[in-house]
Order: sequence, then structure tokens, then C-alpha cells
Amino acid sequence: MACAKSYSNCKEDAPRILVVDGDAHARAAFCLWLTRAGYRCHEAASADEAVDRLNRHEIHLLTLDIQVRDKLGLDVLLQIKQGWPETEVIVLTAEEVTATAVKAMSQGAYGYLLKPIACDELVFQVEKALEHRALVVDRRNYTATLEAKIGGQTMAIRRAHEETILRLLSASRYRDEETGAHIKRTGLYSELFTEVLGWPDDAVQNIRLAAPMHDLGKIGIPDAILRKPGSLTKEEFGIMKSHTTIGAQMLAGSESAILQMAYEIALFHHERWDGSGYPHGISGLAIPESARILAIVDVYDALTHRRVYHDAMPEDVALEIMEKGRGSHFDPYLFSIFTAILPEIRRIAAENPDDRADGYVRRTAAIELPAAIVAQSHGDPILIG
Ligand SMILES: [Fe+2]
Ligand SMILES: [Fe+2]
Repeated sequence: MACAKSYSNCKEDAPRILVVDGDAHARAAFCLWLTRAGYRCHEAASADEAVDRLNRHEIHLLTLDIQVRDKLGLDVLLQIKQGWPETEVIVLTAEEVTATAVKAMSQGAYGYLLKPIACDELVFQVEKALEHRALVVDRRNYTATLEAKIGGQTMAIRRAHEETILRLLSASRYRDEETGAHIKRTGLYSELFTEVLGWPDDAVQNIRLAAPMHDLGKIGIPDAILRKPGSLTKEEFGIMKSHTTIGAQMLAGSESAILQMAYEIALFHHERWDGSGYPHGISGLAIPESARILAIVDVYDALTHRRVYHDAMPEDVALEIMEKGRGSHFDPYLFSIFTAILPEIRRIAAENPDDRADGYVRRTAAIELPAAIVAQSHGDPILIG
């Protein structure tokens, strides 16, 4: 049992090894060898003791005698690999159960040794397993660092996108009646709406940036019409309607998912559920969900805030008017969602008033929809980008 590789002291930061074996003599011998080889060694006589040691110490490697009596060896191995995936396991086994040892490898063991085991053989196998563990840990750390870096860069790109969009929109709104706060609120309402609808996170973030571009096409409408305080003539209204197609032309053909969504919102946000809207008169689910959402939140925000051509309307009056559009102007299912999330919509409006053009105030709490509303769902949305 003499071991060729022998050190008298193990260091404080030496790898920790747990020897799990029902045979006290075997445990003592393995621990002696491993301690002399410079490792810190712990012993466990059963699976429960092993779990107890794993809970109390960071164990880098574990030798497991799969003859441990109180549980099947493979069950213990599975439990260890699930709870402590970075702990390497070397299975020690008698020759007659080699097939079990091979199976252990497929369940995450690094290797196996057949009894009787020589000191050098054990120390060599432990060294190799610990080298493997170091590689796995390095790779995990590298991946985590890379993911954090990519996540940070993605956030930076998104913030740059956001700032660019808002700055461009702020240029266009010098001649529009819409306030900076209005366009931001439409983005925040849409973000809330789509989060409640269960859209994927990316799409939720995209609509927050895309929704503010809904009236981008108004940049192409003459001031005499755009800023006219009174009602528009039929001809003027015809020109005003073209802000949908002008905006769509400005946004068309982009590879950016945000601009693709902005395109469909700009083009379709004045379509109506019953087909009486413009520019194409499409109806129902043929109107992209993003535009159906925007139709609701845009009208709500426009009615409840002051504009060139009207004062802010009391919310109850605005809601009464909008309720008449449920199923004609507005998608009835989305309108039910809107009424369910109204308290949160009000909070967004209160925290982002017209005189607060800069900075977003976001919602933090999750929202649960009543089951009766969920039951009316049209199914999963068809998202672009
Ligand atoms: Fe519009
Ligand atoms: Fe608007």
C-alpha cells in the first residue's frame, strides 16, 4: 500500500476530497494516501453522511464506493451530480459489478477504479479528475463573464437605440401637437400590455421603443393641417390620414426588429376592429396585435391629456366614449385587458406627466389577469422580427 507520491503537508487551499466508503479500513487507507498526496480529506460511511459533508464543505472530488449499503450507489451518484454538479466523482467498485461502474460514467462520474486499488492509481486518477474539474470551472466562469459582457453590450445598444429614437422623435414633435411625454407613455403602456399578454421579453422591449413612432409620418403633414385648432375638412382629413403610409414608408425595409414593429404600428394604428379604419380598412386579427394595442392606448392617452384641439377629458368620460368602440373600433379582447390593467396604466400616466419629457418611470409589480378575460384570448400573437 506504499504510495510513490507522498507529501507531508496539505495546504489550506488544497482541493477537498470526500471518501465515501462503508469499509472503515478502506476509508482510512484512502484518506491517508490522499492526505499524504497533499489533499484535504473527509470521510463518510454512508450516503447520508456524504450529503451532510457536501452541505458543510466545498468538496472538489468524491470517491464513491458503490457498495455503500444504505442506498444504491447509482442513486447516490445521481443525487450528488444533481446537487453538486461541479464535484467530480470517481467510482470505486469490485470487478464483478464493472457494468454498474460503466453506467456510473454515463451518469456523470469522471471515472472508476477496480478494487483492490493501489495508492498511485488512486492519486493519479484524482489528479486527472481535478484537472478536468478545473477546466469545467474555468469554462463556466468564462461563459458567465462572456454572457455578462454580451448582456451589458446588448443593454448599451438598446439604450443607444432608445436615445436615438427619442431624439429623432423630439425633433419631429416641434411641429406636432403630440408631447414627448405622450409618445413615451404609449411605449410604456404598450410594454405593460404586451408583458401581460405574455409576449417574449425581446418583443416587449421592442414595442416600448416602437410604439412611440406611431405618428412619425406626421412629419410629412403640412402645418396648416397638423396644427389646425378646429375640425378638419374632408380633404384635409384625407391628407392627415396619409401620416400612416408616410410613417410606414419611412420605416419600411429595416432589418431591425424594433423598426419592423414600428412600421406595422405606424401603418395600422388607425385600422379598426370592424374594418372601418384607415389606410387599408383591414379588420379583426388581420390587424397586427401591436397596432390593435396602440389603437387603444393612443386614444386613451390622447383623450385624457390636453392637446392643441381639446382639453384633457375626465377619465370617466373618456372611458365611456372608448367603451362604445369596444368590438367596433377596438379589439374586444384587448379592450378587456385594457380595463383590467387600467390601474397600472393610470400609475404610468401619473408618473410620466406631460411636463416630464425626460426619463422613464417603469412598473415593477407583476399583473395577474382575471381568468374570464384570459378565456377570450385570440391565441398567441404573430410577431415580426
Ligand atoms: Fe396616428
Ligand atoms: Fe399618438
